Amino acid sequence: MCGIVGYVGERRATPVVLDGLRRLEYRGYDSAGIAIVSDGEITCTRRVGFVAALEAVVPPTLPGTTGIGHTRWATHGGVTEANAHPHLDSTNRVAVCHNGIIENHTVLRSRLEEEGIAFRSDTDTEVLAHLISKFYSGDPEAAVRQALSHIQGTWGIAVVFLDHPGLIVAARNGSPLVVGKGEGETFLASDPHALAAYTRQVVYLEDRDLVTITARGWTISRLDGAGVSRGVEVLGEEWTSEGRGEFSHHMLKEIHEQPESLARGVLGRVVPDEGGARLGGFDLTPRAIAAIRHIRVLGCGTSFHAGMVGAAAMEGLARIPATAEIASEFRYRNPVISADDLFFAVSQSGETADTLGAVREVQIKGGSVLGVVNVVGSSIARSCGRGVYVHSGPEIAVASTKAFTSQVAALLVAALSFARTRVLGPHEGKAFGEELLAVPKRVGEWLAADNPGVMEAVELCAQGKFVFFLGRGVSHAVALEGALKLKEVAYIPCMAYPAAEMKHGPIALLDKRTPVVVVVPDDVMRDKTLSSVQEVRARGARVILVHTEGDAAAQRLADVSIPVPRSSTLISPLFTVLPLQLLSFRAGLALGRDIDRPRNLAKSVTVE
Ligand code: M6R
Repeated sequence: MCGIVGYVGERRATPVVLDGLRRLEYRGYDSAGIAIVSDGEITCTRRVGFVAALEAVVPPTLPGTTGIGHTRWATHGGVTEANAHPHLDSTNRVAVCHNGIIENHTVLRSRLEEEGIAFRSDTDTEVLAHLISKFYSGDPEAAVRQALSHIQGTWGIAVVFLDHPGLIVAARNGSPLVVGKGEGETFLASDPHALAAYTRQVVYLEDRDLVTITARGWTISRLDGAGVSRGVEVLGEEWTSEGRGEFSHHMLKEIHEQPESLARGVLGRVVPDEGGARLGGFDLTPRAIAAIRHIRVLGCGTSFHAGMVGAAAMEGLARIPATAEIASEFRYRNPVISADDLFFAVSQSGETADTLGAVREVQIKGGSVLGVVNVVGSSIARSCGRGVYVHSGPEIAVASTKAFTSQVAALLVAALSFARTRVLGPHEGKAFGEELLAVPKRVGEWLAADNPGVMEAVELCAQGKFVFFLGRGVSHAVALEGALKLKEVAYIPCMAYPAAEMKHGPIALLDKRTPVVVVVPDDVMRDKTLSSVQEVRARGARVILVHTEGDAAAQRLADVSIPVPRSSTLISPLFTVLPLQLLSFRAGLALGRDIDRPRNLAKSVTVE
């Protein structure tokens, strides 16, 4: 949520910073701005809208070799140029980009106003620019340190000073920052996407780190002044492939990448000969697995939906009581955490503030939490210390697709491994493992085939004022995921319910025009769900059925039939979600939406 880029070196900073902002645009795209230190001034340019709008007005020949930039997802203050970052102090000698939230900004602002400072924006960030300026007496690092000692909240900041044209001071607390090591140049960014084209050698800052960056390198210290050293890590190959390739949109590309992303998640982990699975990152002995009394899976949005499937698998396959919980709600009810509970924190970005907060709540209370994360080295992965990377590869589209299936696959592999340790025999384990290993190829075949039902469903949904999604068990999680996708990509109001709950109220919403998407694989709940479909049909609503191929009875009940491959229940979400991903993509396209950058959203939600 919001992207920061910084550069100090020998090249002109403007193109490097703009390029980094383009790569980070998925983090926020309400406005963008850059500040370049050159020729005795800080040239600050900001524009509402996408980075392209900024590029169009930034003087291309600015000579400065030090600069910072920002893409914003608005929190405090509307989407205006005045509220865009960077923010300058009153003397235009300090410029600041900030991700996060300054919780005590109101009181700080009042104090500064009493001292005669005139504010130029409605943002919380501007107080930081004035505070740093107030404490500056020649030492940039000391001024930032002192200013931050007055701040309550979260921050990832980058600051430039007119008096120090070859230097950036940056600090992190709750909002990620990474330093990139070049030859005679140093980079800064809120995530490695901005850096991978320039360097693969990076240093991740930890919370309450402060770094001073020059072209020659960097010095990291703690906010209290203590020295600290952080190791250089090498970015994996996956950070370098970001183009859309043959695809019109990142979302479509990512949907079609699922055969490969799923293969990365299961190959080498599922061991059919043993009828089980190996996940070294968990670092759990069989004895520790046997002692687990309750599993709780934490996540937000799509990751929560994947967590619902994971919890069902832990309970259904491994026979461990398991629940999925919305991470943003979890910590505020002062949850009871027992030593024999095991938590999973599921997150694509690994930076979601709500999920990170839940992880900390578990850890504060002595609980054990494993990460199920896509982005290597991200805050949640590092906080958990143990866990599994889902290996989706970079997901750029704001709407999550391949991360969902990779998260589900990782949780199914974990459930298989726990199940084998506790209750599952080798034959059942082998069968489940083999079915999992076959999924990537079968997903590829389904995606490559003509699925006319998807376009028919698009026609119904794009015309509808409201779309209702139904499913039971793991298919309820898929229904929720389908509804979330259609909301965020096509802006169509949707609701998802466990099918049997429909009659307890929401059925009142149905009329002859309502498209109802029902996820009904051929499993133990099929007949019950088809009864709900009959109730829908009796109200004259239009039924879009995602069902197992060859299920003629289900097909007969459908206005639009979308068959998917046959599978066991717990594996079915890896297939049933595919048409719903395509439905939201195609509906968004038909309605002229900005598919990869839906309005009001950002890819990683690093504020609460
Ligand atoms: O990065 P995370 O998986 O932690 O993100 C959680 C949600 O913000 C995310 O899944 C969001 O719901 C997506 N936009 C859904 O497509």
